[in-house]
Amino acid sequence: MSDICKNWTQWLSQTRFAHMSEVQIQQTFNWLFALRDIVISKANIKNGDKIIDIGCGSGLLAFGIIEKFSDNVEIIFSDKFEDCLEECKKLLEKCATPNKASFLQSDCLDIKLPDFSVDKALTRSVLVHILDKQKAINEIYRILKKGGTYSAFEPIIKSNTRYHELTSPEQITDWQAFKEAEDDFMTDINDPLTNFDAQSIAQNLDNAGFSDGDIDVQDTPSTYVAQKDSIIKWFESAPSPDRPTSKERFLKYFDEKKVNNYIKEVQEALGGKTITVSSKTIFIRATK
Ligand SMILES: C[S@@+](CC[C@H](N)C(=O)[O-])C[C@H]1O[C@@H](n2cnc3c(N)ncnc32)[C@H](O)[C@@H]1O
Repeated sequence: MSDICKNWTQWLSQTRFAHMSEVQIQQTFNWLFALRDIVISKANIKNGDKIIDIGCGSGLLAFGIIEKFSDNVEIIFSDKFEDCLEECKKLLEKCATPNKASFLQSDCLDIKLPDFSVDKALTRSVLVHILDKQKAINEIYRILKKGGTYSAFEPIIKSNTRYHELTSPEQITDWQAFKEAEDDFMTDINDPLTNFDAQSIAQNLDNAGFSDGDIDVQDTPSTYVAQKDSIIKWFESAPSPDRPTSKERFLKYFDEKKVNNYIKEVQEALGGKTITVSSKTIFIRATK
């Protein structure tokens, strides 16, 4: 477990940016800050609120709240993994803004807080890593006070543009077989990254007891020139510390020689070309 724990901090600070140019990294930060502000604004935070950032990682949401509300609110940094909380503690020491912050090491499937204990619960890209999303949402419902709000952002990975949509059978040997493999692993119900969509989350909210679950679906196309070396990194970068890379996923269906050839052909087909990829995301807002 401690390996995964260590890797989450690494993933958040390095791995997730490994395939990106400086410009793309800057664009990603701008995007993260913009969606952070939406999650915070949808939480409708008031002075005096007790707020938990569940799966806080390096504290994107929690520090955003401190920046906006200073010590007018109480904020709990919560994560399953100690290294994330240690990272946030270090950052908090450098933070000049007065705050009422505390730390809670806790699995979101078993949050170490009593029922009805917080006014607001926030998550950003946490449910996507949890296999049993219903259980996590039940826990969030349990710890919220009556009238409390859950606000979140999640990427819907299964709706992302797939490699086969960017290439054609003339460019790729066994294109159809690679398409089928990709469609299979991108809809795997035993993989937390792909076992959900906007409808299933709406159902989870309803089942947990939220009466007014609202899901705002956004489809964000992004157009850029695909660089050959970035394409290799698409295949070799892990979507999270404990999950396989795209290359490893293809290796479950084909031998290494075939997968390496596939990656080479995708590189040839897309390298230097302008491509448009789409990623679907959701903002969740619900009241207990
Ligand atoms: C993609 S990161 C998001 C971090 C942060 N919320 C942000 O917006 O940058 C996912 C976070 O979920 C945490 N996490 C993963 N599984 C968890 C679990 N079962 N319970 C609580 N946190 C978990 C990880 O440690 C990591 O910090």
